[in-house]
Amino acid sequence: MMKKYVSIALFAFFAIVVAILLGGLFLTKQNLGNSIVSTSTPASSKPVSSPATTPIEVSPGAKTISLALVAKHNTASDCWQAISGNVYDFTPFLNQHPAGAETMIPYCGQDATTAYDTKGGRGDSHSGQAERMLPDYFVGRLSQ
Ligand code: HEM
Repeated sequence: MMKKYVSIALFAFFAIVVAILLGGLFLTKQNLGNSIVSTSTPASSKPVSSPATTPIEVSPGAKTISLALVAKHNTASDCWQAISGNVYDFTPFLNQHPAGAETMIPYCGQDATTAYDTKGGRGDSHSGQAERMLPDYFVGRLSQ
């Protein structure tokens, strides 16, 4: 009789251990899935790179900035530009630009989408490396 209880208790114990192990495995898988999905919905207000036509994705909480305000930042020492509906402060970047600050300065205070997309009329677009730099200078969304 006693033996029977012991084997039932042992069976129940192992069943619980197996259930815990399987549950753990399931949760780990779910977490991995979430971390992949969460890259497209960041919690911060910083934009992230995406390879679509709009170069970066912006969180809904981002600031909205008018072109009139962008126009006030039109010098090499205070250079804002709008590109594809996003506003950037490129002041600290101008001197790091591979083609030199002078290729970018004429577009300070302006919508520079076409200039950026064509490298100032050359015709070729910027690389993925350039694209990934944009979020570092993001200040807000351009208002319609
Ligand atoms: C006003 C807009 C801009 C113009 C007219 C412009 C123009 C150019 C030109 C002519 C080149 C070619 C250099 C060469 O191959 O000799 C170039 C390269 C480059 N630019 Fe710009 N640029 C602009 C904005 C930007 C911005 C906003 C970034 C990044 C934040 C950037 C990052 C780069 C990088 C990384 C390269 C090296 C080549 C590449 O990766 O595509 N540029 N740019």
